Parts: sequence; C-alpha cells; structure tokens
Amino acid sequence: MKVAPSILSADFSRLGDEIKAVEDCGADWLHLDVMDGHFVPNLTFGPPVIKNLRPLSLLFFDVHLMISEPEKLLQNFLDAGADLITIHYEATKNIDDIIRIIQKSGKKVGISIKPNTPIESIKIFLDKIDLILIMSVEPGWSGQKFMPEMLEKVKKLKAWREENPEKFTYLIEIDGGINDKNILDVKNSGVDVVVAGSYIFKSESYKNAISSLHQ
Ligand code: DX5
Ligand code: ZN
Repeated sequence: MKVAPSILSADFSRLGDEIKAVEDCGADWLHLDVMDGHFVPNLTFGPPVIKNLRPLSLLFFDVHLMISEPEKLLQNFLDAGADLITIHYEATKNIDDIIRIIQKSGKKVGISIKPNTPIESIKIFLDKIDLILIMSVEPGWSGQKFMPEMLEKVKKLKAWREENPEKFTYLIEIDGGINDKNILDVKNSGVDVVVAGSYIFKSESYKNAISSLHQ
C-alpha cells in the first residue's frame, strides 16, 4: 500500500519543511485537502499554495477537492501542478466533462464519495477513472474517528476490479481516521493508497508513523 500524508494536519506556518520531512520519512504521495467553506464547512487553501509547494517536492501531488462545482477551478489546479485531481461525486453534475478535461491534460482523475453515498452511485464512472477515494469520515476535518463499515465499499470495489480487470483499472484510496490500529483491516479489505493526517503529523516520529502504515 502507498501512504499519502495529508498536510491538513501539518504546521501551516512551515508547510515546505513539513512536506520535505514526510518525503524524507518514506511518504509515497502527498495528499492536499482543498476545502471551500461551502461543500464542507471548513476552508483550507487553493491553487496558489499548491503552485508554491510544487517545486519543493518530487512527491506525487494527490489533490482532494472538497469544493462545490470543481469544474470552475479545474484548470487552475492543473496548472498549479496537481498529478491527480479527485472531485466529489456529490459536488457537481458535470462529472463526465471533468473526467475528460483532466485526462486530456495528461493528469489522473479520481472520484470521492462521502460516507452516506452508496458505492453503486458511481458505478457508471468506474471504467473511466484512475482512482476512487472512499471517505471513512465526514469530509471537513482531520482527527475524526474511522468508520469501519466503509471497508464494505472497498471490498466491493476490489471484487468488481477482480471480476473485470480489463475494464476496471482504478486504484482504491481511503481517507479519514487511519492509524496503526486499523491499518491491517484496511489493507486486508483491498485498499491501494491510505491517506493519514493527524496520525502522521501529530506523531513523535514521522518515520515510524509512516512505516507502521506501510506494513
Ligand atoms: C478530511 C480530509 C482528510 C484528513 C484526514 O476531510 O479529507 O484527508 O486530512 O485526516 P485524519 O487522517 O486525521 O483523519
Ligand atoms: Zn482528503
């Protein structure tokens, strides 16, 4: 499994250093949580911050857009240096257009669903996208409790991919409440990429925290 530290729990006054630290400590991807105060109540950062961070790291930039109508700012996030852009199924009616625009630019595209959204609602997009992000907390904040029942969605996604490996090539990512206590269940359910915010950035040792998720 790949490990993607979420900078939502990092020290925002030292973001560049924090990113270098997780990169040196074994992170595979960097997860960047963009919130608009509308799709979710919280606000974080946008394309200018991502653009400034981009030259500081070689990590794959996994940008999680928790914003309404992401199509309006898509080009800005692409230009800022996102490698993968994940939008929320619940945030837009233009998913097909968004998939096309991102793929045309040569970047990867993902779709995320909130805990109350059934996995079946995105089945029609599964053969077109690179990644599914299963939210295992309500999007908006770090430090919430993991919802183990979300692993049922992961198991279904894995089974669908196994039944039809030519049609479905998506990665399965999970986000919210991941730590050393639930990582084995997460791994056994079939997750390919784990996001972790507070577990890594609030730990004494980023290296130990990241390696405990790599097992
Ligand atoms: C929540 C974000 C997560 C968050 C995870 O809306 O999408 O990426 O940073 O934080 P933890 O790992 O602390 O739940
Ligand atoms: Zn996230």
